[in-house]
Amino acid sequence: MIDILLVSANDTCATQIGAMLRDSGIAHTLRTESGAARALVKHASLIRKADLLIIEDSTLAAADLAAIEEASGHAPNLSCMLVTAEVSTDMLKAAMRAGVRHVLSWPLDATAFARELAHVAGKKNAHTRRAGRVLAFAAGKGGCGTTLLTANVGYALAAARDKRVLLIDLNQQFADANLLLSDKTPPATLYDLGTQIDRLDAAFFEACVARVHPNLDVLAGAGDPVKAAELRASHLQRVLALVRDQYDIVLCDVGQSINPLSIHVLDQSDAVGVVLQQTVPHLHATRRLLDLFGQLGYASSKTRLIVNHYDKREQVGLDAIERTLGMKPAHLLPHDAKSARHAVNQGVPLYTVAKNGALTKSIDALATLLCPLETAPRKRMFARLFTAKPGTRQQLKPGH
Ligand SMILES: Nc1ncnc2c1ncn2[C@@H]1O[C@H](COP(=O)(O)OP(=O)(O)O)[C@@H](O)[C@H]1O
Ligand SMILES: [Mg+2]
Repeated sequence: MIDILLVSANDTCATQIGAMLRDSGIAHTLRTESGAARALVKHASLIRKADLLIIEDSTLAAADLAAIEEASGHAPNLSCMLVTAEVSTDMLKAAMRAGVRHVLSWPLDATAFARELAHVAGKKNAHTRRAGRVLAFAAGKGGCGTTLLTANVGYALAAARDKRVLLIDLNQQFADANLLLSDKTPPATLYDLGTQIDRLDAAFFEACVARVHPNLDVLAGAGDPVKAAELRASHLQRVLALVRDQYDIVLCDVGQSINPLSIHVLDQSDAVGVVLQQTVPHLHATRRLLDLFGQLGYASSKTRLIVNHYDKREQVGLDAIERTLGMKPAHLLPHDAKSARHAVNQGVPLYTVAKNGALTKSIDALATLLCPLETAPRKRMFARLFTAKPGTRQQLKPGH
């Protein structure tokens, strides 16, 4: 998405440029101001916020280039495009020296214009491209807190660690992840996006997600299980390919739905958090899930066990979990009914209702395990990707 400021000396030309921008297919925002190039300086604050400044001035004189140089000089990442009458070679060189990188003559050639825009968009993407890491949360049995955990880890990474986070809700049975973070109806669901997959680009995607925090977007799951079944893995493949460049972290709430769609996400995931509780049925279901992961060829180091509602007095202790599942839990989350109930009933993150609650703090610690602080050297960061090594265990305070 490029932010464009158009300063135009002629309203008719400005309207035509606006129409050509729309036809170009390049995702953009446009702000138009009237004025000649020589008066550019009065738009200095708008120029600083733009990715592309288009100056349309058919009566441009060499003396006006100083104003362009002055106005764009304070915005090092700004691209500057000049649209003017026929230009001489000398004028072209002078414009380049003044910092103008794209000079087009009026009437504008649509193909040349779109090519220059694509160049600007490519430059911006190269600056802002992110190495989106995909992390999935799954569980053998429902109701063990997978969605609560995914939503709140997402919030912790976005709000407290300044990561650009996307949460994709893959639950096929009445998806609810967005309800834990917002009371607003999402603009679209994963299913809606799948039905219009040919329109998929950064701008369309942005229009489909619910922005629940400036750093956290949610792509809501299909509210209808029949429709959800129509989604194809190839749709998700396209979505993931697009969003990996736009977000630091892509969290997927897989829940209990294991199907071609979620298997695609699990395949693509850098790590998978498997959530369980301390009961025998959970052990059985989790064992089956881990066996399935084995059949899918996942290395056991990809999986991290997360015990929710942990209580050291429970009959099914950590030793039994390790014996049955062949790995130690990497993180233990306490039971905290009051905070969880407040948060889910109000549709807000745990941080909002219980910033210092035991569950909130434990989820925060989990977020740190998933995404170690950036100051850590790179090698160490990968070694610690998505939690501590198997065998290390998040300790709870005595009493839990
Ligand atoms: N650690 C916890 N302490 C108390 N309640 C919890 C905890 N984790 C989850 N819950 C509650 O359990 C219920 C089920 O959680 P949910 O995230 O919907 O499970 P799942 O997605 O695995 O089906 C929700 O009401 C949620 O608030
Ligand atoms: Mg759920």
